[in-house]
Amino acid sequence: MAILPILTWPDARLSTPCTPADPAAVAGLAADMLETMYAAPGRGLAAPQVGRLMRLFVMDTTWKEGVKTPRVVVNPRILWQSDQKASGPEGCLSLPGITAEVTRPLAVRMVWTGLDGTEHDEVLSGFDAVCALHEHDHLDGILTLDRIGPEARAGLEAIYRA
Ligand code: NI
Repeated sequence: MAILPILTWPDARLSTPCTPADPAAVAGLAADMLETMYAAPGRGLAAPQVGRLMRLFVMDTTWKEGVKTPRVVVNPRILWQSDQKASGPEGCLSLPGITAEVTRPLAVRMVWTGLDGTEHDEVLSGFDAVCALHEHDHLDGILTLDRIGPEARAGLEAIYRA
């Protein structure tokens, strides 16, 4: 296991869509990504954030409250999103020091492959949905800055670059 360097915006790799991952070949990388995420400390980390442009992310939305529930998500697809949306503050390990107010669906249905090849199909809600959608965005080269209006973005970019 190893802690990997995390790329920060505006590294071009963070804005590049990722290609499918081979679930049978990423166990080591996923373990390193979980270790890196916990050390950061964060609740989610996508492969492009460590320079690997493949459709893989890890998340654990409960560990900061004392219960570890690590998920390794390979080749996720969002099959459904609730019409009801809510906005909330989102940080990102690749955008240190800034928080963006992002509007997202309250619930999503996501299917993905586990490291053992098992297919998962779950409806996620609350912070699980926010985290999964945030990480899924990374796989398409989308950051929180791309999900907010131009004025909000300009303000955050000014803070980030200061
Ligand atoms: Ni992020």
